[in-house]
Amino acid sequence: MTVSKSRKPIVAGNWKMNKTVADATDLVNAIKRDLAGCKEVDVVLCPPFTALKAVSDLITETHIDLGAQNMHWEKNGAFTGEVSAEMIRELYCHYVILGHSERRAYFGETDEIVNKKTKAALEANLTPIVCVGETLDERESGRMTEVVQTQVRGSLKGLSARDLAESVIAYEPVWAIGTGKTASSEQAQEVHALIRKVIEDMADEAVAQSVRIQYGGSVKPGNAAELFGMPDIDGGLIGGAALEARSFIEIVRAAI
Ligand code: PGA
Repeated sequence: MTVSKSRKPIVAGNWKMNKTVADATDLVNAIKRDLAGCKEVDVVLCPPFTALKAVSDLITETHIDLGAQNMHWEKNGAFTGEVSAEMIRELYCHYVILGHSERRAYFGETDEIVNKKTKAALEANLTPIVCVGETLDERESGRMTEVVQTQVRGSLKGLSARDLAESVIAYEPVWAIGTGKTASSEQAQEVHALIRKVIEDMADEAVAQSVRIQYGGSVKPGNAAELFGMPDIDGGLIGGAALEARSFIEIVRAAI
């Protein structure tokens, strides 16, 4: 990294709807060989719900952490197909991805829903990884700042300063997810600085300086070091490149 930061980088693998238990086992075993003892970066694996238990068991003696990709905000009840914070916490998840752009686009998640989930996650002692990001159309029509600000404020509304400081935000421009198009490190840094400013307005400078903001969207071994070297980028949320051990390990190493 080119800039020394007081915040510990966090690199999370968002496996999305990929990997059976058998595939997950192979991947985790390969990742473990390199990263079991990694203390310089918070390494988080976010498998689908069905592989959480298997991955949890495989990483017990390591420094690798577990995250889920979604949860419901209610504690229990008649919500067919949903999973609660307590249920994922029971499997030793420490993190949960919330408001991913795919959840927003395909499953109708609004800032209000993401906000309810974020509060429920924090209440259950889970660290939320709250995703925000503009579409290509929003960027090209000059609305990026407004869209990102509204998502950050809406998704994190009503959080205490302490909860804000402990949350993780993932900036993921929708146009860069799974497309092979990465935001340039300057484009990403600009938005990360903007998000930190919004957090400062919502709380104070100390909170803004503590909150970790990941970049996500076509992060690869070849572009990770440059992105992670920017002053306001604290690691990444990795999709496609997290499905293969070698590329994920190289990306984590780029954050050290
Ligand atoms: P990608 O996905 O790395 O495949 O672009 C990132 C994400 O959606 O979290």
